Amino acid sequence: QASTEDLEQRVRGVKERMGSRLYLPGHHYQKDEVIQFADDRGDSLKLAQLSADNHQAEAIVFCGVHFMAETADILTKPEQKVYLPDMRAGCSMADMANIDQTEQAWQKLMELFDDTIMPLTYVNSTAAIKAFVGKNNGATVTSSNAERMVSWAFTQKERILFLPDQHLGRNTAYNLGIPLEQMAVWDPIINELIYEGSIEDIKVILWKGHCSVHENFTVQNVHQLREESPDMNIIVHPECRREVVALSDDAGSTNHIINTIENAPSGSSWAIGTEMNLVNRIIQEHPDKHIISLNPNMCPCLTMNRIDLPHLAWCLESIENDEPHNVIEVDANIARDAKKALDRMLERA
Ligand code: 13P
Ligand code: SF4
Repeated sequence: QASTEDLEQRVRGVKERMGSRLYLPGHHYQKDEVIQFADDRGDSLKLAQLSADNHQAEAIVFCGVHFMAETADILTKPEQKVYLPDMRAGCSMADMANIDQTEQAWQKLMELFDDTIMPLTYVNSTAAIKAFVGKNNGATVTSSNAERMVSWAFTQKERILFLPDQHLGRNTAYNLGIPLEQMAVWDPIINELIYEGSIEDIKVILWKGHCSVHENFTVQNVHQLREESPDMNIIVHPECRREVVALSDDAGSTNHIINTIENAPSGSSWAIGTEMNLVNRIIQEHPDKHIISLNPNMCPCLTMNRIDLPHLAWCLESIENDEPHNVIEVDANIARDAKKALDRMLERA
């Protein structure tokens, strides 16, 4: 088995030899052993924009999860190839909305609401879902621009269908002043709309999906922390449940969390509700602040963690040796429609 030093040397070697022909974007949730080699690190919005703007690299080795690599492939030129160092790096949230379920749901929703709905999808979704949304005049959103995109959608239609993360959808709509009574949940397993009250009042239809990492932050975690450390500020990602966001001091995207801690006064105390690789990195980068995870038993995102040093070294060497593996290539028709949804977001980002 190769040592860490050997693997790091191999990654460094390929990067040096390939120069600007190679581009390595890395999501903030990646392991330290990988993110140290990223040319740029960012949240999903920043990485989507950087991929769209990079016209030089022949090979983009995406250190993140599958849907992010698909987005990079859709936004880059056909001659640029995108690779994912481990194909098992998926996203459980993206897997919660498949295209057949979505088309069935749409048909039923059209029967219920005619043509009064716009579909929006969190970028954490498959290319096929983005294509469905693009074809139906909708757009993608990320956690950094969700409020702007939902507001825009309401200038176009009376209602929205928000895929696949019910929590980001609910938190965003709530912040825009839409009462919870005007939100319904679409359950793709039973293929039905779940709501209380009157159907005509429904403004937001939330797909019943969630992030298995952020759902692990609970109301009990908040109560316990408030009891033990009442002076601690709590900041969480909007993929957390509504009740958790409501009890926290602040909520926002990965970027918002990073910037808030960066600008916080020395000596301040923070409990963070987001992915653990990122929280650990924030802790290391701010020794002057007292920072913990909101959930003491929190783990990193397991699929983000599939990208490790051995896979990265193997993937880079296979590209350099012209025997590439793990190419992410979105079908051209799907890519064309998905790009419409992404472009509608990027124009407004
Ligand atoms: P952002 O990068 O948009 O904050 O999304 C968080 C996430 O869960 C990525 O998988
Ligand atoms: Fe998917 Fe959640 Fe992991 Fe992000 S953190 S990749 S949304 S499972």
